[in-house]
Amino acid sequence: EATPDGYRPAYHYTPEKNWVNDPNGLVYLDGEYHLFYQYNPYGDTWGHMSWGHAVSKDLKTWEELPVALEEYPSADSSETMIFSGSVVVDSENTSGFFEPGFKNGMVAIYTSHVHRGDVGLAQHQSLAYSSDKGRTWKYYDQNPVLDLNMKDFRDPNVFRYQGKWKMIVVKPLDYVAQIYESENLKDWKLLSEFGKMGDMAKIWECPSLFEVPVADSDEKKWVMLISSAAEDTEFTGMQYFVGDFDGQRFTPQPQEGVFRLDNGKDFYAAIPYNNLPDSQKNPIIVGWVNNWMYANQIPASGSRGMFSLPRALSLKKQGDTYIVVQRPIFKEGISTKTISVKAKDLAGQTFDMPTNSYRLTLTIDLSDAQDFTIDLLKKDNQSTPLRYDAATGKLSLDRTNSGDVAFHEQFPSVESVSLNPKNKQLKLDIFADNSVLEIFVNDGEKVLTELVFPGNGTSRVAAKTD
Ligand code: FRU
Repeated sequence: EATPDGYRPAYHYTPEKNWVNDPNGLVYLDGEYHLFYQYNPYGDTWGHMSWGHAVSKDLKTWEELPVALEEYPSADSSETMIFSGSVVVDSENTSGFFEPGFKNGMVAIYTSHVHRGDVGLAQHQSLAYSSDKGRTWKYYDQNPVLDLNMKDFRDPNVFRYQGKWKMIVVKPLDYVAQIYESENLKDWKLLSEFGKMGDMAKIWECPSLFEVPVADSDEKKWVMLISSAAEDTEFTGMQYFVGDFDGQRFTPQPQEGVFRLDNGKDFYAAIPYNNLPDSQKNPIIVGWVNNWMYANQIPASGSRGMFSLPRALSLKKQGDTYIVVQRPIFKEGISTKTISVKAKDLAGQTFDMPTNSYRLTLTIDLSDAQDFTIDLLKKDNQSTPLRYDAATGKLSLDRTNSGDVAFHEQFPSVESVSLNPKNKQLKLDIFADNSVLEIFVNDGEKVLTELVFPGNGTSRVAAKTD
């Protein structure tokens, strides 16, 4: 439902009210996809971190459920916050938390974030478990289960591999991801470390490690996702590494430069689903559509923050390297327009969409090397142009004049992706949803996810050539 400001998304999940950040504990169980997430039950800015909860039967329509894991008092009467983590289905009851033979036990592995008297902050990994499909939870009475006596040590992501539990967790300030192993989710043994490469300008958060099929082949490779946040750099987002994992150690392919998962400013903390049904061959991730630089200041519309469309991942071989390709999962029935056009024929075209919540799929023939601009949310004096520069093959999204941009000086910005200028065709799959744009380029080889606040009232889509 639209709010008076028109910013509330129609087909992206956001809770009814309050603050959200990272997706947590993405897990499928018995017909339900669970989306837990960083949530402040008491307000619409960051604080009192707990795990909110929503479920879906199809990854398209979500039902909000009561808060799953709430912050709790520590021994010194300060609060332990429930930071990011993951959920596994302990179908063999390796943890001993469940009745013998019970197959549907869920265990959450989260970062317990606590003030330890005068020592200051501490972060360690802790457990909670649920016998009713995530509706109610108990905290393990021997928490924490993994403690290095560190101030920054967080975001455990646990998965089952070769009959064991594996955890990937980060030391954010060291640019190091550690891999641990456990038989019972309680005792963890360090296997290996990975890091000090790729993007190290910021801290490392929310790691994950999972197998991804290579399109049109029987091959699979492992992908590691890392989120990197900083207050003051122009790029904040996610990077990935592709490589091999032998159960102990992750070995990345040689790579030049940083591989970005999304070239927009607003895609962060994405992690994959655990326990997907066998029929689902491609991993599915969900990200938080926001950026720590201004996350607490974006216009709130009931809630503050939302989640991306779930995205199914595959790999594509390009020369000697593999790149991640992302395919959105979305609700049929959003107003859709599908257009095939020559770049030069875009001049003066307008595509009327009934609302600011739409899907526009464009296949553009580039053989006449024509620059063009498509204004995705044109209204009054506002514009949100997506520009293509034929000479450089650069596609850029400019939100500097997209509506409400004044709430933070780093919000107005232009983001771009480099395409091969030799390409004869450009495919744009554009998902607009009131205050978000997710743009999948060339079948998901590149993605741009950006928040925009164009205000109430329907905008138009208008194209021109330069
Ligand atoms: C990432 C993050 C995590 C942390 C959580 C706290 O956005 O900073 O590292 O667990 O948010 O809300």
